[in-house]
Amino acid sequence: MSDLDNVENADLRAEIVQEIDRRGPISFARYMELCLYHPRYGYYTSTRTRIGKQGDFFTSSSVHSLFGRLIARQIVQLWQHMGKGPFTLVEQGAGEGYLCLDLLDALASETPELYVQLEYRIIEISTDHRQKQKQNLASHVTAGRVIWCELSELEPFTGCFLSNELVDAFPVHVVEKQDNVLQEVLVNCIDEGFVEELAPLTDSRLNDYFELSGNPLVEGNRAEVNLAALDWMAQVAQRLVCGAVLTIDYGYPAAELLAPWRRAGTLLCYHRHQSSDNPYQYIGCQDMTAHVNFTLLEKIGEEHGLKTLYFSEQYRFLLGLGFLEELIRLQALEIDPKRAQALRLTLKNLILPDGGMGESFKVLVQGKGLGNIELLCARPIRAIGLPAGI
Ligand SMILES: C[S@@+](CC[C@H](N)C(=O)[O-])C[C@H]1O[C@@H](n2cnc3c(N)ncnc32)[C@H](O)[C@@H]1O
Repeated sequence: MSDLDNVENADLRAEIVQEIDRRGPISFARYMELCLYHPRYGYYTSTRTRIGKQGDFFTSSSVHSLFGRLIARQIVQLWQHMGKGPFTLVEQGAGEGYLCLDLLDALASETPELYVQLEYRIIEISTDHRQKQKQNLASHVTAGRVIWCELSELEPFTGCFLSNELVDAFPVHVVEKQDNVLQEVLVNCIDEGFVEELAPLTDSRLNDYFELSGNPLVEGNRAEVNLAALDWMAQVAQRLVCGAVLTIDYGYPAAELLAPWRRAGTLLCYHRHQSSDNPYQYIGCQDMTAHVNFTLLEKIGEEHGLKTLYFSEQYRFLLGLGFLEELIRLQALEIDPKRAQALRLTLKNLILPDGGMGESFKVLVQGKGLGNIELLCARPIRAIGLPAGI
């Protein structure tokens, strides 16, 4: 049976049912943790094609190498600003390793003085992805540039902490406001089927989350609460001695994420390029995500010495780094008009708003010890010089 035929992992379902039998109803965060990260059967821990055409979803780095090559420009500027010394680039949640590959290829060919001083550390939860990363990054591993480690083992470092679509995959609690009381959604099991029930909060931090966000949940509404993201931000900020944290993900500022009209939250599941809001199907065979509360990442970062340097949509970030100029250059290299058109369509995905990755993805850059740096990615669109006729 090919993994395309997998509609559910029966072993995982049985494990979750057993846990509920033993402990009673579990938080949605625990349910999501088991679905995605169960040590043997979780979506990210089992062997499966997740990213790309044969998988469940695309990521920007799986779309085109230009994504990583543009981010390399931002890394180079940070390194120059910091005095061109030894630099550690940490990437957490590196997928199949393509962002790392494109970044390192770009640095090796365009900024070898940085490449030879660079230590690229990957923090990856999935053994399956770690193996794919090792295959795809073989030449840079041989060159001594790439090392794998756990976040808990990461020594204080100078450089940049990078992630693309990591934080949206952290397990989230789900809450609802009913009769003016915040209640938590728990997952129970009846006749082998999973059902949701409302119960008092299992963690007092769930209440604090809305206060900290500055946006109370509106009566009748449901929202996800990513407590793991707050702990993660604190850990990352504490380990960064000097440099930047660059986080790319689906998400909004708190006021938009918790807006009254967003009645049912943002939980989305992906299976074979179909999205749905049903986390109780394709158990262990679908990705599960919730949009990131960027206001809280900024706040927690500030509490731990980070300063927000940049927050915007992915399309602005990429345009600032030279997306359009590169698109024009790459197209001019294509003699075959059909291939040139295909290239244009592929690259457009990175910046398109509706349905593309340009607007739903946001980029947050937080700095420590960088003073008043004007980031390359912040170059305004009006400053982009285009050839006549474009
Ligand atoms: C949606 S994929 C994004 C992959 C990659 N960044 C890209 O752009 O293609 C999420 C990645 O994060 C990893 N991951 C999820 N939770 C993690 C965690 N807590 N620590 C480390 N890696 C994690 C997954 O195994 C996967 O490699």
